[in-house]
Amino acid sequence: MSFEKNNIKNIKIGNVILKNVATLAPMAGVTDRAFREICSEFGVGCFTSEMVSTKGLIYDSKKTFSLIEHSNLERPFAVQLFGNNPKDFYESVNILLNKYQDIDIIDINMGCPATKIIKENSGSALMKDSSLCGQIVKSCKDSVMKINKNIPVTVKIRAGWDNNNLNAPEIAKICEQSGADLITVHGRTRQQEYSGTNNLDIIKQVKNSVNIPVIGNGDINSTETANFMLEYTNCDLIAIGRGAMGNPWIFKNINQNSNNIISMAEKVRVMKLHINKLCEYKSEEIGIKEARKHISAYLKNFPNACEFRKKVFSTQTKQELLNICEELI
Ligand SMILES: Cc1cc2nc3c(=O)[nH]c(=O)nc-3n(C[C@H](O)[C@H](O)[C@H](O)COP(=O)(O)O)c2cc1C
Repeated sequence: MSFEKNNIKNIKIGNVILKNVATLAPMAGVTDRAFREICSEFGVGCFTSEMVSTKGLIYDSKKTFSLIEHSNLERPFAVQLFGNNPKDFYESVNILLNKYQDIDIIDINMGCPATKIIKENSGSALMKDSSLCGQIVKSCKDSVMKINKNIPVTVKIRAGWDNNNLNAPEIAKICEQSGADLITVHGRTRQQEYSGTNNLDIIKQVKNSVNIPVIGNGDINSTETANFMLEYTNCDLIAIGRGAMGNPWIFKNINQNSNNIISMAEKVRVMKLHINKLCEYKSEEIGIKEARKHISAYLKNFPNACEFRKKVFSTQTKQELLNICEELI
């Protein structure tokens, strides 16, 4: 297989240019402002907020709005909305675009498999009703147009509900016809959640069924798996979720089509920066709790990782956590 020397694409949606081929997939509880900023150093194609409830925005929930906090390091920045009703989407987009002048993209969650979300008929449950999917996209587009902005509306879907309902190509087409500017596809069904095989053929079929850019998603954890996704499915861009946890350098390696090994000193620098950002944005108490899962991920493949993890989980202060990182060098 032959690949371009550098994975730089310059895909244009609306007035937004997605330059780097690898985007950061949204992960609730993981890809917060601190983590997104950490990744920004390594060349991310697009940043997306954790999923944000349309109802939460409408009821002016402080917690919901805290999920949208972002900085200029995260460009372009998409806010991802979940909900079940076109009117709520319309109102939420209106609230968002009036409050923030620097949101680049509105993304719609049609892929979340969590029971709590499905019960409300949101997330991947929307894929059971293709007409509703179209109405939601149209509502978001209408709301954007009402305030005269050229902000793209994108959609994130799964392969389908289950193996008997692999309708991602059909949903993608309906979303495109309703005005969507880009589709991201995770090649698993709702029933699979995060297990089993990621279906690259479905991603390929989605790419063949629409004329808007497609982002391929699922199980990318190296430059090789990124290139394979791009080559096999012919998707325009890729989204990386779990593969970026503890490894934000993956973006740089993919952009440069390289496999550079990251030094211990560099790993420790980034771990410390990550801890500091989490504590700054969320308070020391919450920050060190949330840092644990990330530090655990950074420690993957470290010698004595087990012993270090135990220490990490027993820390009570930011300084203790930073000291443990220092001990790694
Ligand atoms: C902890 C966790 C939280 C997630 N939260 C979201 C979310 O808020 N919105 C969304 O569209 N997908 C969410 N996802 C799905 C990811 O964006 C992605 O589609 C999935 O993990 C597959 O990609 P990966 O193999 O690169 O992780 C989440 C996944 C995980 C593991």
